Amino acid sequence: MADVRGLSLLLALWLPVVSASEAGTVIRINKAILNYVSEFGKVPFQEALKINDEHFLDQSSDVLPSVRIQVLEAHVSRLGLKFLPDFGVRLWASANFTVKVSCIPESLELSLPVKLLSDLRVTQSSIGTPKISISTFFPYFGQATVLDDNKNLSPALLSMVQKDIKAIFSNKLSLNVANLVDDININMGTIIGLNNLSPESQICYYVMSEPNITSDSISMNLNAVLFLLGKPVMLPQEGPHLELPEPESNKDAMATLTLSQNLFDAILMLLQKAGAFNMDITGQLKSEDNPLNTSALSQFIPEMADQFPEPKPVVLRVRMTVTPVAVFQNNSITVRLQPLVEVLATSSNSAFQSLFSLNVVVNLSLQLSVSRAKLYATTSVVGDVFLVVASSNVGSVNLDHMQTLMNTVFQKSLLDHINALLGNGISLPTMVNLHYVNTNIQIREHYVQISSGLSYHP
Ligand SMILES: *[C@@H]1O[C@H](CO)[C@@H](O)[C@H](O)[C@H]1NC(C)=O
Ligand SMILES: *[C@@H]1O[C@H](CO)[C@@H](O)[C@H](O)[C@H]1NC(C)=O
Ligand SMILES: *[C@@H]1O[C@H](CO)[C@@H](O)[C@H](O)[C@H]1NC(C)=O
Ligand SMILES: *[C@@H]1O[C@H](CO)[C@@H](O)[C@H](O)[C@H]1NC(C)=O
Ligand SMILES: *[C@@H]1O[C@H](CO)[C@@H](O)[C@H](O)[C@H]1NC(C)=O
Repeated sequence: MADVRGLSLLLALWLPVVSASEAGTVIRINKAILNYVSEFGKVPFQEALKINDEHFLDQSSDVLPSVRIQVLEAHVSRLGLKFLPDFGVRLWASANFTVKVSCIPESLELSLPVKLLSDLRVTQSSIGTPKISISTFFPYFGQATVLDDNKNLSPALLSMVQKDIKAIFSNKLSLNVANLVDDININMGTIIGLNNLSPESQICYYVMSEPNITSDSISMNLNAVLFLLGKPVMLPQEGPHLELPEPESNKDAMATLTLSQNLFDAILMLLQKAGAFNMDITGQLKSEDNPLNTSALSQFIPEMADQFPEPKPVVLRVRMTVTPVAVFQNNSITVRLQPLVEVLATSSNSAFQSLFSLNVVVNLSLQLSVSRAKLYATTSVVGDVFLVVASSNVGSVNLDHMQTLMNTVFQKSLLDHINALLGNGISLPTMVNLHYVNTNIQIREHYVQISSGLSYHP
């Protein structure tokens, strides 16, 4: 938790600066989540309600013996939730407490039914996390019954005991629920946790504005903050502010996440600045399937034959000097890469000699998938690799031959590299232990929409 708090402070300092630019996402939590939480949450809620310590009832009258009570068990039989428009969530629950009452020399067990009703306000905290606060909390106590058939309390004593138990429980239960809400808030605070995109770069999300709550859903606008070597990166201001659309359909999904094209552009820019797209493709001599050597190249670059009578390995140094551009279409995303590829000969003392360089354009199509809390992409090359010579120290380069070489050696290495990079996954907005399941991804002209179930794995 210390990490979350530390980061919160950091974010609170940076937010005014970085929120000028937007890499927006919208998350909508639909009504369908409420059934899941009321089912799944029953046991944790029951745990949270437990009253562990013993209590001695305050006996002002001398007539009554000293009475000690101990809560043996709490059982929640029903937990219900609904959205309250423009407010938050209403929670109601039915619980039964088994209470051991010890009044010397006897002891007996009581069952005390309680109904709980609480309105919880959902807001945005100052550090950009969703926040729940208790607006109202009422426990309604039913009639206690004695569980042991052959024991009894005098009606007068039972009613005294019951009155005292109610007073104790009212306090304890509201404390317990307050603690539970604190825990939930700490858990939701992890939404602003930092996640790695590459070893040098990270992403985190924060809530930008008050949530929009209807009887069907809670939606929140989130913004991503990207970090390079620990420092937040200013995103380019260009591009219109994008109003992300309401989710198209699928109100049955628990969550709908809309990721703007801006977010993808920002991530591509960050990875490019971090040098994550850069790579070296190395040749080695005496390899039948690696044509990266000076004698293979001199077949179509005559000058090289003179310069390199002895064969030497060749390296393709791929540098992404231009930020990759993502093109969103209905149902597809293409990423245009424009690397500068420098072709170098290496010598035994590992000095490099620049032969020539190429400006390359290659289009990759992205296939997206979601696993747990990350978005993954795999790529394939669309069309041909386009190349022009940028500079040459070895005279004219036959581009047709070079093209053949690039289509094999370069394409394969590039795809391996980029697929490995994107295989790290891009963290989606989430909290610890919360996973997206059964996702359905739709790509539209300016955004990606993910409809999904949610699953909690403590
Ligand atoms: C509470 O316990 C009593 C006695 O065991 C039982 O009759 C009642 O149905 C229970 N109520 C709930 C809400 O579990
Ligand atoms: C909140 O959501 C409703 C229903 O989707 C929409 O009509 C309304 O414009 C939204 N309000 C805000 C402030 O976003
Ligand atoms: C250069 O590459 C070609 C094509 O892979 C290969 O046949 C040849 O043996 C290599 N030459 C050397 C000296 O490694
Ligand atoms: C997007 O493609 C789907 C089917 O592939 C089609 O039904 C829909 O009309 C298209 N939308 C637009 C805006 O072109
Ligand atoms: C890449 O795609 C763009 C359209 O998005 C197209 O104009 C360009 O010719 C393509 N380039 C290559 C090398 O296929």
